[in-house]
Amino acid sequence: MKKYKTNKESRVTISELMLPSHSNFSGKIHGGYILSLMDQIAFACASKHSETYCVTASVDKVDFLKPIEVGELVTLKASINHVGTTSMVVGVRVESENIQTGKMKHCNSSYFTMVAKNDKGASIPIPGLILENKTAIRRFVRSIIRKEDAKTRQTRFKESEFELESHLEILNEYDVKINLNL
Ligand SMILES: CC(C)(COP(=O)(O)OP(=O)(O)OC[C@H]1O[C@@H](n2cnc3c(N)ncnc32)[C@H](O)[C@@H]1OP(=O)(O)O)[C@@H](O)C(=O)NCCC(=O)NCCS
Repeated sequence: MKKYKTNKESRVTISELMLPSHSNFSGKIHGGYILSLMDQIAFACASKHSETYCVTASVDKVDFLKPIEVGELVTLKASINHVGTTSMVVGVRVESENIQTGKMKHCNSSYFTMVAKNDKGASIPIPGLILENKTAIRRFVRSIIRKEDAKTRQTRFKESEFELESHLEILNEYDVKINLNL
């Protein structure tokens, strides 16, 4: 019988103190370091839900809303927002806390699509998701819409279907010179 799990069963939280070795030349934490932590927690959450190792199939847009300073305590929270047959969308939220004042700030949120794999590297079916409240349903539906939008984005500018003439006008608004060598 198909197994179903709640997102509580796979929810993961990690906190890490930001060290000088994670900073760039202006003393802020490298965005790439935060992305790496986000990928790790998405992996942990997806692996807990699927009970197997997973790979990252895609990462949604990440907006860095606020800089993170050396010495702040960063907390990442991950939970399953959506399940397909072999894939899961993991929502990851990053907050940072000033240890001395206790002030928290929301630094970014993103969505990682992770795919469950077996020992031979084949994608394998995962448990279904029990949606226990309105937030869980809202997140699930939002993931469906985001997936549909991503499909449209991917197919819109196919090289074989791109008509040059019908897209030249929009370029008038930009600081470019058209110098075609066809
Ligand atoms: C992502 C990957 C697993 C897809 O494998 P595939 O054999 O093409 O698998 P399928 O087309 O059957 O897709 C498997 C699932 O992944 C989803 N998927 C595949 N590519 C995706 C993408 N770019 N974005 C979102 N979901 C994706 C599919 O929708 C499908 O979901 P479902 O089973 O829930 O319906 C494969 O391309 C891969 O292994 N990529 C490398 C992953 C990796 O190494 N990541 C770390 C980078 S260093």
